[in-house]
Amino acid sequence: MLSGIQPTADSFHLGNYLGAIRQWVRLQETHDAFYCIVDLHAITVDHDPARLRERTRVSVAQLLAAGLDPELCTLFVQSHVPEHAQLAWVLNCLTGFGEASRMTQFKDKAQKQGAERATVGLFTYPILQAADILLYQANVVPVGEDQRQHLELTRDLAQRFNGRFGQTFTVPEPHIVKDTAKILDLQEPAIKMSKSASSPGGIIELLDDPKASAKKIRSAVTDSEREIRYDEERKPGISNLLTIYSALTGKPVPELERDYAGKGYGDLKKDLAQVVVDFVTPFQERTRKLLADPETLDTILANGAEKARRIAAETLAVVYDRVGF
Ligand code: ADP
Ligand code: NA
Repeated sequence: MLSGIQPTADSFHLGNYLGAIRQWVRLQETHDAFYCIVDLHAITVDHDPARLRERTRVSVAQLLAAGLDPELCTLFVQSHVPEHAQLAWVLNCLTGFGEASRMTQFKDKAQKQGAERATVGLFTYPILQAADILLYQANVVPVGEDQRQHLELTRDLAQRFNGRFGQTFTVPEPHIVKDTAKILDLQEPAIKMSKSASSPGGIIELLDDPKASAKKIRSAVTDSEREIRYDEERKPGISNLLTIYSALTGKPVPELERDYAGKGYGDLKKDLAQVVVDFVTPFQERTRKLLADPETLDTILANGAEKARRIAAETLAVVYDRVGF
């Protein structure tokens, strides 16, 4: 199994944690899991070098603080394994220009930046993503619905390569994660919590001051009724708070509805604020400890890269041989 996350923020947010990272922690128990901080992907848009370096380390520290265990999974930084870029080149040469042009995420991101400023790297992003997956012969790729098209491209490229040059790649199955929590913006519960779209009040950053996060929960936008009831359509704000509450405590939503029957929105918010504080406080402590020990972090990453490279180099050697290098 392979999954990646971009080091493009100073802190992961609650949506990243409940929608992705928490699943990673579970899946490392049952799968031979490769988790990649995709810094090559992070330079497809404007970036600051010193910040990228810092964010990569902070991302790794947070993943470890969240429960990733280097004994149970392979955690590494993409740029530490040169085979990603090498395989991506070969796959670039197998991808049709028209085929790449149909990727809707590029169209969206390019439009946001202004078409003239969008880079060729952003255009070929899904091909690098295919390389990430195919290098490890991953058969399971947990992705959100928004990544379905990219995974289809990965499958097409694997099949094309296998057909043209002989069986080389495992064709990965999309493991569309449906039952993961989708966390909404606290101020604008019509959109998802997101580092690019959320206002500061709408997003809980895991490394932010816990008091500030508690305040954001208490100020979350709800509705003008009084009943604490899960209803995504009509009560998205309250439903979102219940989702977060349930995900962080393990209490099923119906149980929470019973607990809060007859109580007010203020009671729910006050309790959830405490739940969030109780989660982020030790999380931050663990993250700080890891960042305060750069040698240990370097060792973890060096070991991760070495483990990843063993597999990646093996795949790339076959690919290079097959294409005539
Ligand atoms: P963002 O949307 O903030 O830019 P990313 O696109 O970098 O976050 O997403 C990283 C991971 O976190 C992905 O697996 C994505 O599905 C998950 N994720 C991001 N936002 C949310 C959210 N609001 N709810 C659930 N999962 C999320
Ligand atoms: Na494992």
